[in-house]
Amino acid sequence: MDNSPGTLRTILEAARIVAFTGAGISAESGIPTFRGPNGLWRSFSPEKLASPEAFADDPRLVWEWYDWRRQIIHKAQPNPGHRALAEMEGRAVGRFTLVTQNVDGLHDRAGSRNIVKLHGDIWQVRCTACAVQEQNDQVPMDPLPPRCRCGALLRPAVVWFGEALPADAWGRALEAAAQAQVFLVIGTSATVYPAAGLVQVARKSGARVAVVNPDPTPADQLAEWVLRGAAGDILPRLL
Ligand code: OAD
Repeated sequence: MDNSPGTLRTILEAARIVAFTGAGISAESGIPTFRGPNGLWRSFSPEKLASPEAFADDPRLVWEWYDWRRQIIHKAQPNPGHRALAEMEGRAVGRFTLVTQNVDGLHDRAGSRNIVKLHGDIWQVRCTACAVQEQNDQVPMDPLPPRCRCGALLRPAVVWFGEALPADAWGRALEAAAQAQVFLVIGTSATVYPAAGLVQVARKSGARVAVVNPDPTPADQLAEWVLRGAAGDILPRLL
């Protein structure tokens, strides 16, 4: 099997492509990742900040953390990695799906369109009582915690530990992974399930897997191409 980067480039010109991204693609935009030496989970406890129990205990504390992250993201710009994926989609309209674990919205801002957001969107809020879910771009958030027109607390429309992924997004991701001919695993530690299981689904369904990451991940063993380096360097070169 020819696993040179040139072959990957050729395949990308015609194949059904899924790009599966994680926090690493936004690292070069200055947004902290979760794991690793400077990762958010080194300084913060997921149970205390990103779980339904934490929100029930102290909604203000949880919102302060999300507001802090929203402020960082608000100042950030999409980087060459995000832009390369938007361009790849432009060349492969109808055969390209971006499945992301990121909630930061930088893929949208870079111009990607066919996006499946597995872990929600930090710029959306959802009522804890009624059916309201809406965009909220206020930075900083005021008041904190915010309330719905119905009076109940609003929460970030993101997936917390112990919660299921949004069913429609998960369904679309599974279908895209099963139909992919090339599955790009970009900037993710590939350790958080069920999302990480998409790599196996794609592989078992016959996709050729490529990993883009400066560090080893469990997805490497399923990959024909392991491209070591920053997404912002490697993805523009793949085009
Ligand atoms: P992680 O923080 O677990 O992993 C980030 C990955 O990005 C690591 O493998 C890094 O080596 C890699 N990386 C760092 N800089 C990079 C760069 N410039 N280019 C490419 N890769 C780079 O983040 P995720 O895999 O996204 O879930 O984490 C998955 C989920 O765990 C998140 O969506 C979040 C978290 O808890 C929820 O909040 C539900």
